[in-house]
Amino acid sequence: MSAAAQIPQTHDLVDARHLAPHRNEIWPAHLVQGAGIARAVAALTEGGAGLDGRREVLAVHPSSKAPVLGLAPSTAVSFGVLLPGERTRLRRRNATSFTMGLGGSAVVRVGARELSVGLRDSWNTPGMHAEQLENRGDQPFTYVSYSNAPLLQRLEVLFEELDPKTSGGVSGGGERGAGTGARAKDVAGQAIPLGDDGSMLLPYEHLVDPDFVDSRPLLWRWEDVKPHLGLVRALKQGYTGRPLWCLYNPATGTRNGTTSSFFATIASAGPNIVGPAHRHVSSAINFILEGSGFSIVDGVRLEWAAGDIMLSAPGWSPHGHGMGPDGALILTVQDHPLHIGAESLIWQEDLKDGPILTLGAERGFETNLRQMRGEDAR
Ligand SMILES: [Fe+2]
Repeated sequence: MSAAAQIPQTHDLVDARHLAPHRNEIWPAHLVQGAGIARAVAALTEGGAGLDGRREVLAVHPSSKAPVLGLAPSTAVSFGVLLPGERTRLRRRNATSFTMGLGGSAVVRVGARELSVGLRDSWNTPGMHAEQLENRGDQPFTYVSYSNAPLLQRLEVLFEELDPKTSGGVSGGGERGAGTGARAKDVAGQAIPLGDDGSMLLPYEHLVDPDFVDSRPLLWRWEDVKPHLGLVRALKQGYTGRPLWCLYNPATGTRNGTTSSFFATIASAGPNIVGPAHRHVSSAINFILEGSGFSIVDGVRLEWAAGDIMLSAPGWSPHGHGMGPDGALILTVQDHPLHIGAESLIWQEDLKDGPILTLGAERGFETNLRQMRGEDAR
């Protein structure tokens, strides 16, 4: 602060030589208890829905400052309920989201796709694909949803419209991909190599019509996911990886995501398994579906059980998780793909003297999976 005070206030140029090094204000681990969430969701059923036709409560970290509310700096988490016969308004945003059903059933329209979802079924909503939820059943439909809206709010570029004229998506009858004939980028020509180190020149037309991946709404049916959980559940203490599956969306390519910003994983860990302490700049939010356990984050121990949701790995905080006597089933959402896209995903598996690797930009870590499988075969 004292260095900053030396800078003349009338200037919009700052002498960087006297600035103190930036200090990250890391949000501490934070747990929102399931009982409180259940009470809030029950209260949502009373009174009317919001302007968007939704009944949602946000799980908010105490360090989060309105109007940008999240459980992690990049991640908004909402619990919602839709009463029988209710339908939300069509909503289109440039934010992307991942949602899991927690009870009841609904029909979800995302872009041109219609999905029937029930307990623990989950889906992604790509950017600019309009989404609408409808409860055609006789029980309330409850869900948890994660969006990267806080990131866009911080960039002051969150776009949102209700009842849009187009539902979005390449196959959604919208304006996307509507061009016909030769693409201007092809008319303009390819990149021109300069020198011999890979540097190139690219025509403008490529900037306004980059090659793209068709980003689609996908459905991960719980009945399809569940049969695969036994394989990771069988991994015993001593495995240096994590007993989980990523709900993978191939459109995210090498960013290994569920959405362009987040991966969602389902971990199924056996009784009393304790995972290794490690750290990464991606933030992790754990929602406990079954079981119980504990986490030690930055030296602080937190006990958790089914229904709880927690910021379990604030960016770059050392952390590790241990399972209770019945093991645990955990949905983890982490802003890993976002960081790979920014080439900022640094990760350290061994806190003692292990390397800090930039995942997605160099070869990453190994695990002892081969040994573990060998032991299992004996
Ligand atoms: Fe972690």
